[in-house]
Order: sequence, then C-alpha cells, then structure tokens
Amino acid sequence: MKSKFIMIASSKGGVGKSTAALGIARGLCRMGKRVLVADLDFGNACLDILLGVQDSIICTLQDAVTGKGSVADALVKIPVTAEKKKRRGARGKKPFSEAGELWLLPSSVGGAGCVAGFEGESAFTDDGVCSALTEAAEAADAEYVIIDTGAGVNSAVGAAAAIADTALVVSGHMPVALRSAQTTVARLSSYGVGDIRLLINSFDASGVIDDRRKGLFSVIDESGAALAGVIPYDYGLLLTHEGIASPGGEAEGAFLNIARRLCGESVPVFEGIKRIRKLKKKIYQ
Ligand SMILES: Nc1ncnc2c1ncn2[C@@H]1O[C@H](COP(=O)(O)OP(=O)(O)OP(=O)(O)O)[C@@H](O)[C@H]1O
Ligand SMILES: [Mg+2]
Repeated sequence: MKSKFIMIASSKGGVGKSTAALGIARGLCRMGKRVLVADLDFGNACLDILLGVQDSIICTLQDAVTGKGSVADALVKIPVTAEKKKRRGARGKKPFSEAGELWLLPSSVGGAGCVAGFEGESAFTDDGVCSALTEAAEAADAEYVIIDTGAGVNSAVGAAAAIADTALVVSGHMPVALRSAQTTVARLSSYGVGDIRLLINSFDASGVIDDRRKGLFSVIDESGAALAGVIPYDYGLLLTHEGIASPGGEAEGAFLNIARRLCGESVPVFEGIKRIRKLKKKIYQ
C-alpha cells in the first residue's frame, strides 16, 4: 500500500508541532486508520516520552540509517483503546469503526543528523532518512505517516519535505508565530512541497478582543496557506503531556476534525467545539 506522508513543521519553536503530530495521529487512529508517527526532531526528540514508551526504545531512526540497527527493531507499537461501539462520529451520524493502529519511529537525541561530525554522520543523508521512513511505513503497513520536525532551519526538514505529500505549518495567532509561519510556508514551497496548509494552534477566541489582536481571518490571509484546522487553547493538553490525564479535551475534537479533513471529509472549522462556537462573533475578525 502507498502511504500518505504528512509533515508537521514550523521554524518557530514551541508552537505545538509535536502536540499536533500526536493529536492528528491519534485522530486518524480513532477513524480506524493505520498510522505511523515518525520523530524527525533530531535536536529535541520527544514523541517517545509523550507516548509514554521511552523505556521500550532499543533502537532509533538514526541507528537504522547509520547501519547500527534495523528499522524493524526501531518501530514501537503504541497500545490504542478501541472506540466504544455506541460512540458516534462528530456529526452524530456514523459510528467510528474499530480503532486503527499506531506506531512510533523514535529518534535519538543530539546524535547523528543533529551534531555536525557525529560518529556515523557520513552515512546520515537525507536519502538515508527517506529510505528509513519508507521502510518503516511498509513494515507498519501504515496508511498515514505523520512526521514531526524540529524548530529552526535543519536538515531533517529537508528530508521530510522530500518525502511529504502534505505539509501542515503550525502557527499561533500572535505576530511572531505568524511571521515564522510565512517563512516556513515559503521555504517548504521552495523545497517543492505542493500541498501546504496552515494549522492554527492554541487559539484563544476570548482573547480576540478587538482589532489590536489578530482574528482568524487575518492570520489565514497573512500566512499564505490554506487552512487545515484550528486547535483551541486547551489546558488539559499540558496535563496529558505530563502523563497526568488521558487525551480527551476540546483539542482532541479539533485534531479529529483535521484527521477527517485529511481523509477527504468536509468538516466545518469548529465542529463539535462548543466553547469556541459560543464566541463566534469574536473570532471572525
Ligand atoms: N492547543 C494547546 N493548548 C494548550 N497547550 C498547548 C497546546 N498546544 C501545545 N501546547 C503546549 O505547548 C507546549 C509546546 O508544545 P509542543 O512541544 O507540541 O511544541 P513544539 O512546536 O513541538 O516545540 P518544539 O519546537 O520544541 O519542538 C507544550 O507544553 C504543549 O503541551
Ligand atoms: Mg516538538
């Protein structure tokens, strides 16, 4: 099966790339899809921790690329809970099928691909990374491969862009994040990524008080990319990342909406996100 590769990018740090990578991967999985999430943040790999499997890693993407291990040994299967049969889709029409599968291709921290001159660096090429991603997608029989990338200008972004069918550029609605989103869109476009979309994260509708704070329409216009979705600010995500709570807040619904759009469904921007829909008048500035 040919997998669909979706990279998550932003040259600005801390805007929610890893959160989005996992949220969308989980959303696709809830829809019954087989999903591989690959950690290409070679400087600050973190998906293993966010998924709670850091103690199960025996081999990484870097080991596979530099010949110290195999892709098969690097892949980690993440346990997922099946949706209850009675639970309905967001429109209340059709129930989701059985949960899909979720796999992780973890990365080493601060090793090959990150530190110049690191042992084995010569074997560590964009082609090597792309081959490992393709092999991992085949081994996991993944329909979707979600690639998390790091902030800044780094080689992993080039490798991800070389294989990506779609790029989701994450931005907040503050000016510094928006400028970085514009730069990222331009760079990915120069790398030849054809389908580039914007993902607005940590959207705080109640914070859009007047035209001194950018509303949704201004952010979408200025980014230069079509909208993939809007994720509300959700304090529960912080607790989820610390392993204190399970996923399940409003952000999870927004990630599911994005997953459905990526699968070709037409889903209104704030479907199922009641708190934001109540503030409708404030957000469309
Ligand atoms: N929608 C949201 N609501 C509340 N908190 C969020 C949201 N999205 C992300 N966060 C929090 O923001 C912080 C940064 O998120 P994350 O690590 O996903 O960013 P990143 O872009 O991957 O960072 P880096 O550039 O370092 O890789 C985390 O603590 C995360 O829990
Ligand atoms: Mg990250």
